[in-house]
Amino acid sequence: MPHDEGIAGQAQDDWVRELQNQVIRDMEKVYSPVVMGLWKNPQNAGSLDYPDGYGQVTGSCGDTMQIWIRVRDDAVTEATFWTDGCGSSIVCGSMVTIMAKGKTLEQAARIDQQVVLDELGGMPEEDRHCALLAADALRAAVGCVRPGLVAKKPWR
Ligand code: FES
Repeated sequence: MPHDEGIAGQAQDDWVRELQNQVIRDMEKVYSPVVMGLWKNPQNAGSLDYPDGYGQVTGSCGDTMQIWIRVRDDAVTEATFWTDGCGSSIVCGSMVTIMAKGKTLEQAARIDQQVVLDELGGMPEEDRHCALLAADALRAAVGCVRPGLVAKKPWR
């Protein structure tokens, strides 16, 4: 590689890195450390083989969230998610699956949009429906195992 191309390539790498850092600094002004942590390092992404419960919800934005849960002795032992939605929906899917694990089905059924938002340290108005999508998908999965626990079915 000619010397000049090496210098140009390095300058481009530095520019891209600085741009990425600027995006992260801008996001940190809007999102909590908890949100930023899950945005950089999503948790529990993927499906479960032979789940006990499965929920799928498509929001008004057109994005879909799927949640799989495994249940033993009335408690959620595993929870995973998948979404074709935005970065915030990935954060919210991560959070609801983290929160659901170890909870009884009854406790998991009470994880609603506001509980998710509180646990995340809040989200901007335009991202709040992503938490609703994740909470509703979890409730759909719980309702799949124990229909009586989830009286209101907003995903239908
Ligand atoms: Fe659709 Fe976030 S914009 S889930």
